Amino acid sequence: MSKSLGALWRDRFELDNRALEGESPDPAVEKLLAHRTQRLYTDDPVPAAVLDTLIAAALSAATKSDLQQLSMIRIRDRALRERIGALLPGMPWIVQAPEFFVVCGDNRRIRRVCELRGLDYANDTMDAVLNATIDAAIAMQQLVCAAEIMGLGCCHISHVRDHVDAIAEMLAIPDHVFPISGLCVGYPAREGFVSVRLSPSATIHTDRYDDRGLAEEIDGYDRRRDGRYSIPAGKYKHADRFGTPEFYGWSEDKARQMAVDDGRTMRAYLEKAGFALG
Ligand SMILES: Cc1cc2nc3c(=O)[nH]c(=O)nc-3n(C[C@H](O)[C@H](O)[C@H](O)COP(=O)(O)O)c2cc1C
Repeated sequence: MSKSLGALWRDRFELDNRALEGESPDPAVEKLLAHRTQRLYTDDPVPAAVLDTLIAAALSAATKSDLQQLSMIRIRDRALRERIGALLPGMPWIVQAPEFFVVCGDNRRIRRVCELRGLDYANDTMDAVLNATIDAAIAMQQLVCAAEIMGLGCCHISHVRDHVDAIAEMLAIPDHVFPISGLCVGYPAREGFVSVRLSPSATIHTDRYDDRGLAEEIDGYDRRRDGRYSIPAGKYKHADRFGTPEFYGWSEDKARQMAVDDGRTMRAYLEKAGFALG
């Protein structure tokens, strides 16, 4: 029951794209365009060969200067998983998922390679953190893409960073290694839904950055998204502080989220882990 590219575009943006109407997607691309985060899984284990395939996909991602600055810690020990899950009780999928990884930027290994070759590491800069973060993020996303193509579902868990010290201690994470995200993997127990994204006209610029039309873009997006899924009044963020407006769309929701300090754990963690952030 393959969808046309035009239908996939409409699902993603709630917009028409005439050029894509009637065009058939490559089957893998169809799965990518239909991406949805999955937070409920069947009890089916992920077979070892499937897991190896996902790991190969992750480690096939491009990597800055071929430095390969990532590590993924697969959490197999049930008790350990439950201890991580207990830190984030609002996210029961962390414990329920058949597989769970903690994905880390890893600058330690390449420092050790320098040591092994008898050379000093001379790149203590903010870029070291960025490079390892990007390597880890794109490897994780490549795992997610492969998983979705193969019929599995995933959920990234950035909230592990809220408890980075506790998690680093539990997992014996050494200096110059830092968790960027958890990752749940399993077979989805429900279909899930495609989340409508901002129009490409808001996010893709040609030749120069141009956000002069942002206010209209956001209004249009709020309405299109609300047409697909209205945020129920019970889910309005910080209603005691910001009130209950007549229309509550994505932009109101995200502005409220960003108007409240979310906590900041990573700078102190990275400094303690030996990074120079100057
Ligand atoms: C880096 C990153 C971190 C995320 N962290 C969490 C998380 O901690 N918990 C969670 O339930 N979902 C998390 N998500 C999933 C997002 O909420 C989800 O991608 C977003 O709402 C859009 O929905 P979609 O992925 O279904 O399109 C994360 C996604 C990314 C990319």
